[in-house]
Amino acid sequence: MVSIAVLASGSGTNLQSIIDALEAGSIDGKVDLVISDKADAYAITRAKKHGIETGLVEKKNGEKREAYDERLIEVLKAHDIELVVLAGFMRILSPLFLRAFPMRVLNIHPSLLPSFPGLDVHRRAIEAGARFSGCTVHFVDEGVDTGPIIIQAVVPILEDDNPKILADRILEEEHRIYPEAVRLYCEGRLTVKGGRVTVKDALRTTGVLENPPVRGVKDR
Ligand code: GRF
Repeated sequence: MVSIAVLASGSGTNLQSIIDALEAGSIDGKVDLVISDKADAYAITRAKKHGIETGLVEKKNGEKREAYDERLIEVLKAHDIELVVLAGFMRILSPLFLRAFPMRVLNIHPSLLPSFPGLDVHRRAIEAGARFSGCTVHFVDEGVDTGPIIIQAVVPILEDDNPKILADRILEEEHRIYPEAVRLYCEGRLTVKGGRVTVKDALRTTGVLENPPVRGVKDR
């Protein structure tokens, strides 16, 4: 059984999707700890509702990133955590942290990486005129949103979209792919080589999407 800690700063809808999937029983893992850096994060309330232990690790005034991460590592190690899942955790982890959990930290990002890393991604995707966006679960490395990609879901960007509408459309897919990535990890099906992830026994997809759709000869 893989012991999982989820780190979250906000509402925790992704945390919820993972808790729900694990409680449904088909994944050999358990969320043993939820940590937030924000006292008012709703993610903490969600965890408590499910009887999951919670921790608050707030940044102290003037504290350096490494010092904060050291405190975080201590809590995680004390709980014997194997997998760290970032779910809207609004801090960048230091190399020190990543060395403590090598290829054992997952993150979800609301764009089709490597496009649109960083912040304000929905507005940027719309303004770039992209026809598709989506979400990406990846292993965290020392860059910002650059680690090996595990799974992605694609959604169309529609002409009357605004960032909020697009974010909601993408969030629904986040809730599907994040539990799936956790499942693949817990089943030991992920291998990373040369920056690429291999998923053992993955189904092959051959679906092609266009936006706007290309009409068939009969529709013209
Ligand atoms: C999600 O959009 C996720 O992609 C990003 O932060 C947001 C977290 O939402 N990293 P929630 O707290 O899981 O509801």
